Amino acid sequence: MHDDGEKSVFLVTGATGNVGRHVVEGLLAEGQAVRALTRDPAAARLPAGAEVAVGDLTRPETVEPALKDVSALFLFPSPGTAGPVVRAAKRQGVRRIVLLSSSAVAYETEGADNAIVAFHKEIEREVEASGLEWTFVRPGAFAVNTLQWAPQIRAGDVVRGPHAGAEMSMIHERDIADVAVRALLTDGHAGAKYVLTGPESLNQAEQARRIGQAIGRPVRYEELAPAAAREEMLRNGVPAAFADMLLAFQAGLVGVPAEVTTAVEEITGRPARTFDAWAAERAADFR
Ligand SMILES: NC(=O)c1ccc[n+]([C@@H]2O[C@H](COP(=O)([O-])OP(=O)(O)OC[C@H]3O[C@@H](n4cnc5c(N)ncnc54)[C@H](OP(=O)(O)O)[C@@H]3O)[C@@H](O)[C@H]2O)c1
Repeated sequence: MHDDGEKSVFLVTGATGNVGRHVVEGLLAEGQAVRALTRDPAAARLPAGAEVAVGDLTRPETVEPALKDVSALFLFPSPGTAGPVVRAAKRQGVRRIVLLSSSAVAYETEGADNAIVAFHKEIEREVEASGLEWTFVRPGAFAVNTLQWAPQIRAGDVVRGPHAGAEMSMIHERDIADVAVRALLTDGHAGAKYVLTGPESLNQAEQARRIGQAIGRPVRYEELAPAAAREEMLRNGVPAAFADMLLAFQAGLVGVPAEVTTAVEEITGRPARTFDAWAAERAADFR
């Protein structure tokens, strides 16, 4: 997005997150001016090339100054915040928004109609209503979700959890960011709703086995009955409503091959990274 004589700054929200960090790096690698939003600059560890801006999406008035001179915004979906932030973007002359959403907004499986889906749908509605140019990036399950198993894998060779057969096409977070960077930088993505996945459907037992391969020792998934898994989650401080939502959602994925899309390749020009590649990169976290 380069209009002659116009300043083109990219504002990345959620910039210290799993996806946002890669968006910042991807834009910098393309030689763009990047402003990275964080609530806590002291802890942010953002690349030196990025301009750091302090702001909290739940307090939109703190975000508006960071929107000055911005042409395109990468929007992290913070529940209940999109309306005022999008309006502030419009006031400041932002022309393009790329929203991190979720493939779950279009799921029709049982257990998929939950609070997480509802908040993503609401944010998509707000962005759509803005009248600005928008692109929805709708990823499925992130590969990084499996880091929740790291303490168990570091301590032994078994991952205990619910629904071993729940299938997901785990996506590498950098692929999500690579798509977002293309949509931020280039024309032709306005109004698109990109469902992004990894290249293959893997159930949770297989994900654990693949992590074992990456770290060079066997890891197996031991299925807990839903009630036992729920108890375990509550013991670990997971709110009951979230535990119930997750269990119901995963139950709907058992034995159902997850959708695999080609969107990453179509947009970035190279195939989606595999879960094996992700696990190899993150092996140290599991050792
Ligand atoms: N995990 C999945 O499988 C999955 C699947 C589909 C969609 N998603 C979507 O992706 C999101 C997670 O993305 P991610 O993993 O990149 O996020 P993340 O690693 O959890 O990081 C999000 C970043 O956003 C910033 N942030 C959070 N609340 C904020 C606020 N109120 N104001 C300003 N900044 C705020 C935080 O940065 P600071 O602390 O530096 O401010 C944080 O580092 C989910 O919430 C969901 O919407 C996830």
